Amino acid sequence: MKRTEISFSWEASDFIKEDVLLFTRNGSQPNVMTLTFKSIGIILGDPCLTIFVNSKRFTSELLETNPEFTICRGGRVPDYIGGCGKYTGRDTEKISLFSMETLPGQLVSVPVLKECKVSYECKLVEYSESVIMEGYKMYIGQIEGVFLHENVSE
Ligand SMILES: Cc1cc2nc3c(=O)[nH]c(=O)nc-3n(C[C@H](O)[C@H](O)[C@H](O)COP(=O)(O)O)c2cc1C
Repeated sequence: MKRTEISFSWEASDFIKEDVLLFTRNGSQPNVMTLTFKSIGIILGDPCLTIFVNSKRFTSELLETNPEFTICRGGRVPDYIGGCGKYTGRDTEKISLFSMETLPGQLVSVPVLKECKVSYECKLVEYSESVIMEGYKMYIGQIEGVFLHENVSE
């Protein structure tokens, strides 16, 4: 699977409107959840993703243990949106349950979905309680790289 680095803002309008998969990792154990609440832009000159995760989610714990994450959109992502938004990684290994094929991140320790269209690899720089979404935390990740997965259809 060839992955080509692209601009962070490539098809940003698709990124904003689609449900995506958010991968995290604790030690050898990766996890994935479905994510709707997110934004993309530039903060102090650096490309960043802002994501909103409920503080009760297992993913929230993982983000604060290992401050890296990846986001995948397009390709086969829609096949996994329902399942990854229903089960928790606290008691279910979703990646193997749904037979998801992953690839190692190229710039972070967190994997990406092999057959997604675009993967974003991020390092967490800051997080805080959200003011606009009660019970949620806002996590800001600096985008280390964005990759187009060649030969994966939209
Ligand atoms: C379509 C859809 C979108 C979702 N978007 C979000 C979101 O933006 N933020 C969030 O905290 N949870 C969201 N969820 C819920 C989580 O994906 C869900 O609670 C998941 O099981 C959490 O997994 P975890 O416990 O392994 O972290 C969404 C669920 C679905 C079905």
